Amino acid sequence: MEDAEQYAQWMNDIDVTINLLAVPNIYSLEKEREALIKLSKEGYNFAIVTLNNNEVIGNCSLGGVNPIHRTAEAGIFIRNKNYWNKGYGTEAMKLLLDYDFNVLNLNNIMLRGYSFNKRVIKSYKKCGLKEIGRRREAVIIGSKKYDHIYGHIGK
Ligand SMILES: CC(C)(COP(=O)(O)OP(=O)(O)OC[C@H]1O[C@@H](n2cnc3c(N)ncnc32)[C@H](O)[C@@H]1OP(=O)(O)O)[C@@H](O)C(=O)NCCC(=O)NCCS
Repeated sequence: MEDAEQYAQWMNDIDVTINLLAVPNIYSLEKEREALIKLSKEGYNFAIVTLNNNEVIGNCSLGGVNPIHRTAEAGIFIRNKNYWNKGYGTEAMKLLLDYDFNVLNLNNIMLRGYSFNKRVIKSYKKCGLKEIGRRREAVIIGSKKYDHIYGHIGK
């Protein structure tokens, strides 16, 4: 909870949220606090922190876990954009996948990203992503339409 104020600031940074479903939302400190309380109580939600100074830079999570078919969907965002393109996102996703496959014994993880977000597609591919399809022109920003890319990683 002590990171709530910083989190709320990042959640209102459109450079970050343009890549997320959350982009149309305005996040007050109160709303962010409520979201963090909810996230801390359920599911698999992790903070991403730097090893050298324990600075929180983002989050990753696993949702929609199906224990029968052993599937789930993973998501990630490095909220602090000063830390983009330095390998943190790829390393964190690899750690999350290791946990998914080898601790939770899941078999197939879905990942999604917008087609304009070249950074996430590249990062996910470095984690083993295989594209399974596209929801064509499902993302509209200004006058432009983009695809929502669906992919998965198997054990
Ligand atoms: C997407 C995200 C998780 C990636 O994490 P990251 O730490 O920035 O990424 P990494 O450094 O691990 O890898 C990014 C790769 O994309 C490459 N890249 C960056 N911009 C690119 C572009 N415009 N075109 C092609 N490749 C690009 C980088 O060079 C790097 O590849 P390399 O290591 O081979 O050089 C992070 O940037 C982020 O959270 N962004 C904002 C929110 C978001 O997009 N979340 C995902 C929603 S689906």
